[in-house]
Amino acid sequence: MNPSAGHAFDQLATRVENHGPVVLPALLLCDFGHLAREVERLEEAGALALHLDIMDGRFVPQLTYGLIVVEAVRRAAKVPLEVHLMIEEPERSIADYAKAGADILTVHLEGLADPRGTLEAIAALGPKAHLAISPNTPVERAVPYLEYCDGVLVMSVEPGYGGQRFNPVALEKLAELADIRSRRGAGFHLGVDGGISTETIGPVAAAGAELIVAGSAVIRSQNYAHAISELEQLARNAA
Ligand code: DX5
Ligand code: ZN
Repeated sequence: MNPSAGHAFDQLATRVENHGPVVLPALLLCDFGHLAREVERLEEAGALALHLDIMDGRFVPQLTYGLIVVEAVRRAAKVPLEVHLMIEEPERSIADYAKAGADILTVHLEGLADPRGTLEAIAALGPKAHLAISPNTPVERAVPYLEYCDGVLVMSVEPGYGGQRFNPVALEKLAELADIRSRRGAGFHLGVDGGISTETIGPVAAAGAELIVAGSAVIRSQNYAHAISELEQLARNAA
């Protein structure tokens, strides 16, 4: 159990409500030799939450990191953490990642035997339960589960690597989800992940994205603070 997880996220949600979209820097391309320093630099640069990509070399080709690194980031970070699980049988690991400090646990619809059961299990553990859909997964496949999730993460690249090119199919999917949300008066948040840059952030924000993951656009920039504030400004102007 991690009951404080929900609370940390509520502050972020209030911020989104009052000030518009936020950028979640993804650690994937950061300097893992100086992880705590990178976390500190991102927080000093204004990051309000961080995005951690867990890849197992099976669900996606690349192998990144797991619980030990999430625990280390949790110790170093003050802001909420979104843990994006790109692993086979994620239901087996959700309790461990909740305990390690995830405030949002994001699981891929494509990898779930029982999406509703897994989303409900995440919520019972404390973190917000977010459902990710890959570029080839239509929104209609997620529709039956929207009432069980706190957020939907629309992938704008095929999960697996940082630094890929944005796939515009995400724009239609975000707009479709935003439309469903307003018609139903539902409360789920909309996120987007992959290929976000100064060119693509305006369109995703205009389509409804609020929790916007940016990896290379922040980590490969010369100045984290400048990159985050420029991206957030562009998103807020477009939202
Ligand atoms: C891709 C990951 C992303 C990645 C984003 O599988 O889910 O979170 O780190 O990196 P950019 O922003 O460079 O596409
Ligand atoms: Zn991710």
